[in-house]
Amino acid sequence: MPLELCRTVAEFRAACDRVRSLGRRVGLVPTMGALHAGHVALVHEARRRADDAAVTIFVNPTQFGPNEDFAKYPRTLESDLAKCEAAGAALVFAPEAGEMYLAGETTRVRVDGLTAHLCGRVRPGHFEGVTTIVAKLFAVAGACTAVFGRKDYQQLKVIQRMTADLLLPVDVVGFPTVREADGLALSSRNAYLSAEDRQRALVLSRSLAAAVRRFESAERGAGALRRPVEQAISAVGLSPDYVTLADSETLEPFGDDAVVGDRALLALAVRVGGARLIDNVVLGEDGAPGASE
Ligand code: PAF
Repeated sequence: MPLELCRTVAEFRAACDRVRSLGRRVGLVPTMGALHAGHVALVHEARRRADDAAVTIFVNPTQFGPNEDFAKYPRTLESDLAKCEAAGAALVFAPEAGEMYLAGETTRVRVDGLTAHLCGRVRPGHFEGVTTIVAKLFAVAGACTAVFGRKDYQQLKVIQRMTADLLLPVDVVGFPTVREADGLALSSRNAYLSAEDRQRALVLSRSLAAAVRRFESAERGAGALRRPVEQAISAVGLSPDYVTLADSETLEPFGDDAVVGDRALLALAVRVGGARLIDNVVLGEDGAPGASE
């Protein structure tokens, strides 16, 4: 089936309704474009879990802070469409901003609690922008399965909470982080990295991998798991926004003197050159990133 490009809310809503009228399920993959192999894996997962994959491509202004990279965020619609088609997506929704934010609009969707930690602490308003746009995309797409990458672990949890709280007819599923062979998590923002910065960025996945190995060797001290990650990042001259060990469901941080149970989220955000990169592992669940090296 050829890829269908929808530019308006009405077109995309009608296309998703048509999929359902044929007794098929929509597999939604919300993105901001600049697609890479991680997004392609999400499209394959959407096709595996549903019938017709629908990719949304929209650089959402409300989730960027005033000093963030909204203006320079890569916009590569032509090559994104080619990747969607090659991955077997049936639909792409690529609206103009005016389709998603009507003149005079004043409504925002806010999730409390989960957004108070990690990226929510350092990017005020970010998650409100994310939940507002994702609620709108769900409202347009209708009943579907939606697939999100676990690299944005906090985003996944926040969207699952919002979907449950608003009784939306969407099954929200997470998909494991896709990495380069050397462990670097795929991100559209990797495009901002110089060769030297890309090399330095490897400290993120490598320090997380070391933490996974300590956890697998029965280390349960929060500080003993978290601090070496922070130290490894500082040792290559980078200063993290945060390196946090947290409850993997509530995202409440553990103090360094806590003892963790069988499962804990170790998440970090670090500025490397012109990019702000995030990465995480769920200790007790994920293997060591880049372990194949
Ligand atoms: O993860 C992203 O690319 C964005 O935050 C999302 C979920 C598409 C909302 O704009």
